[in-house]
Parts: sequence; structure tokens; C-alpha cells
Amino acid sequence: MVVAQRVQKVSHPSDDKRWKIIDATMRRAGNDRHALIETLHAVQESFGYLGDDALRYVAKRLRIPLSTVYGVATFYHYFTLKPPGEHLCVVCLGTACYIKGAPELVDRVSARWNVSMGESSPDGKVTLLSARCVGSCGLAPIAVVDGEVVGRTSPDELVDRIERLGNDDA
Ligand code: FES
Repeated sequence: MVVAQRVQKVSHPSDDKRWKIIDATMRRAGNDRHALIETLHAVQESFGYLGDDALRYVAKRLRIPLSTVYGVATFYHYFTLKPPGEHLCVVCLGTACYIKGAPELVDRVSARWNVSMGESSPDGKVTLLSARCVGSCGLAPIAVVDGEVVGRTSPDELVDRIERLGNDDA
């Protein structure tokens, strides 16, 4: 027997077309509480972070208490509740990259922009995240800067690369 899903009528937080992607994800995942993690992933991929409006929307649509949604969003390291900085630097901390000096990459970026892992710098320029093996161990150590893989990099080179991006924005 097929049980029709009762879909809560909730308006989108804004006219942004990306909400349709979120809706489609919820629909595919069954429009109920089991869809929560997949939906949060979709929000983060689409908007870059989990904003309060998004969490409220997802909670209402999936009929889950907002506190539960916040609980899940803050439990997983992957999710971030803050808007990303202008530039995103993801340092691979998989074994190969770690051995080849990834911690020094993290330290240098962290010191240059006064940014902690998982956070954005106070000037909003750089968000620093880590990843586990991104699948190009031969190029270790690796960072992904604004979606571009920077392989066999040194702390100086990486900082330089991010600084140049900053200058291009000016
Ligand atoms: S460990 Fe970094 S790419 Fe594999």
C-alpha cells in the first residue's frame, strides 16, 4: 500500500532559485525526518553554509523541531552555520598530505589570516576547512582554493596564491 506523504506548505525564505534544489532533495529523500541530513548537505552545497532561515525552513518542511535540526547541524563538523569568507581554502589532511606537510599549510594560512580551522577570518576574506583524502595523493600536500586544486604546494606558495586572489578582487 502506498501511503501519500503529507507535505507541509511552507514558503521559501526568499525567491532564490536554489530553494527548488532543496525541495527536490527533500522530495527524493521522502519528505520526512529521514531526509534531514541529506537536505542539510544540499543546503550547504547550494548556499555554502546553513543559515538560520534555511534551518527554519527545513525544520518546518520536514516537521522536525528546530532544536533537533540545530542539534544535527552543529554535531557534524562538515556543516557550517556561518557564511563562508570570500575565498575558500580546503586543506587535505588525509594521510599522504599530512605526512607531506599539510599541517604546516594549515598553520601558515591560519596565522596569516588569523583564522581557525572551520572558521572564516575576521576580515571575511578566507574560510579555512579541512578534508580527508581528496583522491590525488600523488600531488600531496594538496589544498583546494576556490575549487581549484593546488598540488605539491608549500605554505609560502599557498599563502601567495590566496593573496593574489584577494588582489584580483580589488
Ligand atoms: S591524502 Fe590528500 S589527496 Fe589523498
